[in-house]
Amino acid sequence: MQRRTFFAGLAGGMSAMQVAEAAEEAASAKLDREVGLPWMCDVADAGRRIRANDPTDMGGAGRGLTMMGDDPRLPSMPERPTLMDFFKFRFAPANHLLQSANLAQKAGHPDKIVLACLLHDIALASGTRTDHGYWGAQLIEPYVDEEVSWAIRAHQSLKFLPDPAVGYEYPRSYVRMFGADYKPEPYIVAAYEEARKHKWYMTARLITLNDVYAFDPKVRVSFDQFEDVIGRTFRNPKEGLGFDGSSVAHMWRSVIWPNNYL
Ligand SMILES: [Fe+2]
Ligand SMILES: [Fe+2]
Repeated sequence: MQRRTFFAGLAGGMSAMQVAEAAEEAASAKLDREVGLPWMCDVADAGRRIRANDPTDMGGAGRGLTMMGDDPRLPSMPERPTLMDFFKFRFAPANHLLQSANLAQKAGHPDKIVLACLLHDIALASGTRTDHGYWGAQLIEPYVDEEVSWAIRAHQSLKFLPDPAVGYEYPRSYVRMFGADYKPEPYIVAAYEEARKHKWYMTARLITLNDVYAFDPKVRVSFDQFEDVIGRTFRNPKEGLGFDGSSVAHMWRSVIWPNNYL
């Protein structure tokens, strides 16, 4: 704490203890800002907002420019991006999604199943892990048949719960990753029980069946293989994903500009 601040605090009627606490709080907040500021926020580039000599500015003066707008380290996106553009410029390589959809296609499943497999982990591809099935379903909801988004939401819980009747076992990888005694949260079990009785249960179950075998390092699948399926089943808005004013447009924009300061 600076001496000047300390005496100013005392002169302002604060006790020595209050001044010390206020200083500690300010230092803690400053540290959080410094440590929490993603490194990509410090990228300097002409034309960006300058944080010059503004003592109220997060990070203070002299740290260059704050990340707003197109991030020069990421591939440029078209003005009206389609789902395919997101796959190519943001989600790539997305091998797991491509392999999963490839398995569904090879097995002769209809377009909606292929699309559901292609998009089932779209939230992971776009940067959200917790409850990714829920996030992914929400992201695509306005653009796909209800069955597809329902199934993607449901795969979140169905992944944890085996169904030997259709050959789905609890993933061995989960034992490795979460421990042998891991138990899904009650809300996951409740969601599973709900999904189990639903008319679209098998749609979601097929996602999980094609999911577990879609981690083959030797298999290569091209995005272009799914262009027709996407054309038939995904309603790309004419304004572009992120710019159609839908309830999820901001989520797509966050994928376009993931490092914007605000
Ligand atoms: Fe998943
Ligand atoms: Fe997956």
